[in-house]
Amino acid sequence: MPPRNDGDDSDKMNVVGISGSPRRHGSTETLLDRLLEGAVSAGADVEKIVLNELTFRPCQECGGCDRTGACVIKDDMEFIYRRIEDADGIVVASPVFFANVSAQTKMMIDRFQCAWVAKYALKKERRTKKQKGIFISVSAAHRKDFFDSSKLVVKSFFATLDIEYAGELLCGGITNKSDIDSNEKLLKSAFELGKSFLVKI
Ligand SMILES: Cc1cc2nc3c(=O)[nH]c(=O)nc-3n(C[C@H](O)[C@H](O)[C@H](O)COP(=O)(O)O)c2cc1C
Repeated sequence: MPPRNDGDDSDKMNVVGISGSPRRHGSTETLLDRLLEGAVSAGADVEKIVLNELTFRPCQECGGCDRTGACVIKDDMEFIYRRIEDADGIVVASPVFFANVSAQTKMMIDRFQCAWVAKYALKKERRTKKQKGIFISVSAAHRKDFFDSSKLVVKSFFATLDIEYAGELLCGGITNKSDIDSNEKLLKSAFELGKSFLVKI
């Protein structure tokens, strides 16, 4: 692995995986786990965040970030802001809910409005460190267009944070957790994506 380029002493890459499914150990989280295992096999430190287990509010559009670019709401998002700031790789994993990301995922993303303000309104430099992002999603239907809105949301999130959209794993026809457990090909794809996506940082 190449060294981190943020002045950190550690040579280890660090990957944060964010699960936006309310169903613990369901399809989304299982794929995310496998991807993180792939990242570990490539020498990265990994951390998984399960949004549904955290307590945070949706963006209140209060304008509290207008002058500083920092959110004024004190809740578990403070932890997520720090983790994403420090990560080399960010994996957003969400099931398709009504043709979009889950409410939990969208709620987290909306709370990055402060980053949008910092970048575009206040013209603040975020960092020099390169970051890569991956999007994982599953849906019950076999309809590619059910991923369109989610992809746009996640791409817009990554673009705001200057995170390169480095790959995706979008899987239709997944309803039960067992649909994933029996799909060795998909699990292998997740592992390989986790193993390879940070290599070129
Ligand atoms: C509230 C809700 C909305 C859903 N909306 C869609 C949808 O629009 N299209 C679709 O194909 N599947 C939809 N699904 C099915 C889930 O995407 C699917 O079951 C997925 O595998 C769940 O992943 P999980 O186990 O990680 O939560 C929906 C499920 C729920 C609970």
